[in-house]
Amino acid sequence: MAVPKDKHNFETRTIHAGAAPDPTTGARSTPIYQTTAYAFDSTEHAASLFNLQNFGFIYSRLTNPTVSVLEERLANLENGRAAVACSTGHAAQLLALHPLMNPGDRLIASRNLYGGSITQFSHSFKRFGWGVDFVDGTNPNNFSKIITPKHKCIFIESLSNPGGVILDIEKISTISKKHQIPLIVDNTMASPYLCNPFKWGADIITHSMTKFIGGHGNSMGGIVIESGNFDWLASKKFTSLTGPSASYHGLIFAETFGDFAYSMKLRADSLRDLGSSLSPTNAFYFITGLETLHIRMERHCKNAYKIANFLEKHNKIAWVSYAGLKSSSFGFLARKYMKKGVGPVFTFGVKKGFSGKKIISNVNIFSHVANVGDTRSLILHPASTTHNQLTEDQKIAAGSGQEVIRLSIGLEHADDLIEDLDNSLKNI
Ligand SMILES: Cc1ncc(COP(=O)(O)O)c(C=O)c1O
Repeated sequence: MAVPKDKHNFETRTIHAGAAPDPTTGARSTPIYQTTAYAFDSTEHAASLFNLQNFGFIYSRLTNPTVSVLEERLANLENGRAAVACSTGHAAQLLALHPLMNPGDRLIASRNLYGGSITQFSHSFKRFGWGVDFVDGTNPNNFSKIITPKHKCIFIESLSNPGGVILDIEKISTISKKHQIPLIVDNTMASPYLCNPFKWGADIITHSMTKFIGGHGNSMGGIVIESGNFDWLASKKFTSLTGPSASYHGLIFAETFGDFAYSMKLRADSLRDLGSSLSPTNAFYFITGLETLHIRMERHCKNAYKIANFLEKHNKIAWVSYAGLKSSSFGFLARKYMKKGVGPVFTFGVKKGFSGKKIISNVNIFSHVANVGDTRSLILHPASTTHNQLTEDQKIAAGSGQEVIRLSIGLEHADDLIEDLDNSLKNI
């Protein structure tokens, strides 16, 4: 269901968008509608819902009132048209591609992606007959160089995990527009507070809500948001949207649903058949998480900036890759796309002769876990964990070589975190 335009400031929308007091009980916080199914008014009503002639709740694999509040809120925060939530960030990536790709089709992706995404694209998606070509997205021309009619979308991260690489979204969107294919941006690491990919021409946004949207490291979830600006009928490359749908008696999604056709197709076919729905309880945690997103992101960025500066000056540290530092080559793009900050996830390497991995065993406040975007500060060696499945070359290309340590800076006091790292560095 499409989202109305909202003129309120971002902070107000994180708290109010999509929600209202419960009409029956007056409950002010969005209730967890822990139900599988919904009573129909009549057999005609049931049939009209199943035929997509009416909007309403049928079965929680497709829609659920708690999940709908979250979908509307995130579509609103991203200035999008409609959204579909699902069980994980990886499910969001699968669902995002499902309406676009047929066996034999290909996608072009930036090589600076979360390691799990590179593995998902190169191995599991290959088994659906979907090919992938990875390019160095820091030069947007690399996308145009290899694009063919078989390519059905471009996929990038706005701020890459883990190296903090920022791509020129606007330039890449010009290329995708020229070829009439959608640009999909994984906005997980920036969150809608720091970056608005639709403003720069992206067509579809995915999130792992597991990270900053939830923000407390307690729930898995993903979401796909559409801008409503892609003209499927003009492109003529996406017959699943512009041709008659076999599983809905010949319905043509692009004609019937216009600027939210992609989300309708994604929900009605992909979510229905792939089944990776979000639980209402997790939706509740994400709604609650979103209400403090702006405050959390501000503090995350402030803390990360202090810690990156501390590390950069430390005599045992060789380099720090953080787009917020003066030394970063991504400063120009950061000022254009992420004016409010570049998030709290970054990498660093120790000088020759020291063991980066030892820092991990020596810290006390930092938790050694494979996650980012928690209130707690986290530390990890990506090459042996999140990026473990990649070849050595792919690891280096993705900013996760053997010497790299990743931090996700939490909301503790920055001085305590610096002291923890400083003590740990004394013993490496
Ligand atoms: C940038 C990015 N995208 C997608 C994912 C996948 O999300 P999930 O773990 O929720 O499936 C992750 C997970 O770390 C991530 O960091």
